[in-house]
Amino acid sequence: MTVLIVFGSVEGQTKKIATFVERVARDNGASTCLVDSLDGREAVPFDNVASVILAASVHERRHPARFEAYVAAHEKELDARRTMFLSVSLSAAFPEGKEDAQDYADELKMRTEFDPDCELLVAGAVRTRNYDYYATQVLRHVVLRGRNFDPSVQEYEFTDWDELENAVIEFLKPDCNP
Ligand SMILES: Cc1cc2nc3c(=O)[nH]c(=O)nc-3n(C[C@H](O)[C@H](O)[C@H](O)COP(=O)(O)O)c2cc1C
Repeated sequence: MTVLIVFGSVEGQTKKIATFVERVARDNGASTCLVDSLDGREAVPFDNVASVILAASVHERRHPARFEAYVAAHEKELDARRTMFLSVSLSAAFPEGKEDAQDYADELKMRTEFDPDCELLVAGAVRTRNYDYYATQVLRHVVLRGRNFDPSVQEYEFTDWDELENAVIEFLKPDCNP
């Protein structure tokens, strides 16, 4: 079984998540293929692919346009396989942000007609050194508003690696596959 892992990452956390997912899949006996949906390479091998794990981060309430385009363009291939969607955002890190995090995922599914078998809202990271002035202001005044967290001074990884690993193992269990 090959597990195709497709990701869309802007500052690198979702790439780290996708690489982690690849390791978990390999440790569980799968062969894997890791594809960056933002790198402009169009040809994606679906032969021998039984399951697809898609991961993308949210910026200003949306997943990357190219990731969305990838999902929409491969609707038939995705429909024919078991799929898992990992939506990465900072809202997912906070109990009061879960509703927003779910909205981002729902909006992507609505726009692309993607209907994953399984989905997880994954908390991302604050990567202070990667931000320009604008990004810092968006994080401070929009995404992290009202939270005691200054994105200009504090790097922080909110991703719950154990939860992610367990969810991926559950998704890849043979008796879950058609
Ligand atoms: C400019 C900017 C805008 C963001 N907008 C949102 C947002 O609207 N909602 C949210 O929950 N997280 C938002 N985030 C947080 C990212 O989703 C989070 O940092 C994630 O880990 C980024 O993943 P990546 O490194 O793979 O791009 C934003 C981050 C930046 C830098």
